[in-house]
Amino acid sequence: MDKAEIYYFSGSGNSLAVARDVGIRLNADITPVMSLVDLESIDTEANVIGFVFPIYDFKPPKIMEKIIPKIKNIESKYIFAICTYGIAPAKSLKHIEKTIKSCGGCLSAGVAVEMPQSGIGSGTVTKAQQEKMFENWKNRLDGVCDYISNRRAGEIETSILFFSLFKPRIIKIYPIFFVFLKHLIFEGIDSLAFTSNEKCTGCGTCQRICPQNNIEIIENKPVWSDHCANCFACLNWCPNGAISLGKAKMGIKNYHHPDIKISDMIS
Ligand SMILES: Cc1cc2nc3c(=O)[nH]c(=O)nc-3n(C[C@H](O)[C@H](O)[C@H](O)COP(=O)(O)O)c2cc1C
Repeated sequence: MDKAEIYYFSGSGNSLAVARDVGIRLNADITPVMSLVDLESIDTEANVIGFVFPIYDFKPPKIMEKIIPKIKNIESKYIFAICTYGIAPAKSLKHIEKTIKSCGGCLSAGVAVEMPQSGIGSGTVTKAQQEKMFENWKNRLDGVCDYISNRRAGEIETSILFFSLFKPRIIKIYPIFFVFLKHLIFEGIDSLAFTSNEKCTGCGTCQRICPQNNIEIIENKPVWSDHCANCFACLNWCPNGAISLGKAKMGIKNYHHPDIKISDMIS
């Protein structure tokens, strides 16, 4: 009987929800990658390994690339990867495939799952669009799990970014993207740093939820350090909506996956 293990990273809970859905069906243990990052090596008995992660800037989060080389005997495992994306998967799964290959392993299945946008432009996704994305994933779940359970190989999903840029939902993000660029060019990267406003009560949720331990509460206010993964967890999970990305309005609305609780993220 195959033993399966899933390693995930998640900022707003989308990838955790997907990891959990697949984990239940494959009877797999699911482990946050942050709990592995300080290990010298990852020695698992599992012969099926899954990576589930979001796409940031059309690439997997850097942490995924860090943990893959630590996995012992990776060449003997059946490996699958699932990315969740808000705009387009582009070649993200190919990035992961390359990393796995450079460590002697082989990515057998790469699945891209559309989920609500969790960063800039999150407010442009309507509730109906969100529901449709969740429904589409639920409809694919059995097929994906059958593919993995049967150890099938060869399907690595990619998309041509150019075509995704013309979807009506994505066109709505353009003006926001220009505001972002304007800030970046004329006011510098510091103007796009996370900040808290007067609604902040100093409750420390952002500190606890940050997967990178990048936030300290000093004098009842969050202070961000310099190793942010850009996952937006602090902003999305703030119970008071008190965190923003600089002063610019960038169409960001607090979002987190409806099936994921703050306690799931922290544990
Ligand atoms: C900083 C940041 C950058 C992102 N960049 C992309 C991107 O380049 N392409 C894309 O399709 N989605 C992008 N997204 C959307 C996320 O990939 C998507 O919402 C994902 O499901 C979030 O998963 P999570 O909740 O597990 O972190 C980005 C989100 C954030 C916060």
